[in-house]
Amino acid sequence: MYISERARKMEPSATLAVTAKAKSLKREGKPVISFGAGEPDFDSPPSAIRYAEEAMRKGQTHYTPGTGIPELRESICTYYKDHFGLEYTPANVVVGAGAKPLLFEALGCLVDPGDEVLVFTPAWVSYVEQIRLLGGKAVLVDTSKTDFIPRFDDVKKAITPRTRAMIVNNPNNPTGAVYDEQCLKDLGRLAVEHNIAILYDEIYERLVYGNSVHHQILNLVPEARDLTVIINGVSKAFAMTGWRIGYALGPSSIMGYLGDFQGHLTSNACSVAQWASVGALKEAEQDVQKMHGAFEKRRDLIVELMKDIPYISFTEPNGAFYVWFSVEKVLGKSWNGQVITDDITLCKVLLESKYVALVPGSAFMADGNVRISYSNSEEEIREGMKRFKEFLEELK
Ligand SMILES: Cc1ncc(COP(=O)(O)O)c(C=O)c1O
Repeated sequence: MYISERARKMEPSATLAVTAKAKSLKREGKPVISFGAGEPDFDSPPSAIRYAEEAMRKGQTHYTPGTGIPELRESICTYYKDHFGLEYTPANVVVGAGAKPLLFEALGCLVDPGDEVLVFTPAWVSYVEQIRLLGGKAVLVDTSKTDFIPRFDDVKKAITPRTRAMIVNNPNNPTGAVYDEQCLKDLGRLAVEHNIAILYDEIYERLVYGNSVHHQILNLVPEARDLTVIINGVSKAFAMTGWRIGYALGPSSIMGYLGDFQGHLTSNACSVAQWASVGALKEAEQDVQKMHGAFEKRRDLIVELMKDIPYISFTEPNGAFYVWFSVEKVLGKSWNGQVITDDITLCKVLLESKYVALVPGSAFMADGNVRISYSNSEEEIREGMKRFKEFLEELK
């Protein structure tokens, strides 16, 4: 069978690959600790389960409007009004099967073959692949030398007449960086000046720690409203990854197209999961806060433990649930005769020898680094970091 060039050029999701390998080792009975998956280990909120059960009992198991049930779109508007003071109507909201397909659909509405999209690296695995799948070109702007915050001059230099959009992921996966006001104002103004759409992926907006504050870009640059599509969802803050519900809010100029795009791709997101999300948005605030508190404690713990680990260096993360660190000083050393040539080999040998799963930085367009997802219990964090330290101490 002929396989298209598009499919052959696609890189599989490295995070999913690591998680799958960790799970298969676990099935073999190995004592695996996985810091791979970007998902909370908590149960979904009771209100979500209750709404889902009620929906099933009441026969809400059919197609829904393609862009989502009115009750959920209303709840999303209320959430944005309450949390950010932004006014949207349900007509400006599209509910999808997770934030991931909504990003693809939004890019599909913005990018023609050959068009460019700015991506600030290190960046989440799927952005670049989605842009490529659409025939677009991802223009990478490196933030590793600027504390993982995109800087005005670097972004401006990357803009060309073919630039259609910039993806702004704040708080950031994989770095845990939280963008400051100045950065967001700069990005917003550049977008307005050059007529570039902003895909504002704030899926981790509830997960910021210490003195850090999450800013909604439209509160800083309201004039960018007609160019901005907000991407959010219940996966991370509400511990609802498996339900697959995300949502997009944006101006009428694009949302109709986005809804039509989705209509041909998936139709509506799962009806029961939509009702579960209504329950979550309406009644799970306390659960979100409790999980946030647990994540903050875990972040403090892992950062303290990592300070004591040899060879690695990192900037303390302020958001999401990741720590991003450089392993440059490990490269070239060997473990039990196996030379650690790059971050991929490091993660492979570590998983096979100590059963600790981490994600190689090359999956985020940043070789020589590694991502830890600390959505694990404190015991697992202690044990995992102990094994990782042992591994590095055994290097020759
Ligand atoms: C930055 C970022 N955006 C979007 C998503 C996708 O979220 P969802 O599970 O809702 O598709 C993820 C999930 O890992 C993410 O890290």
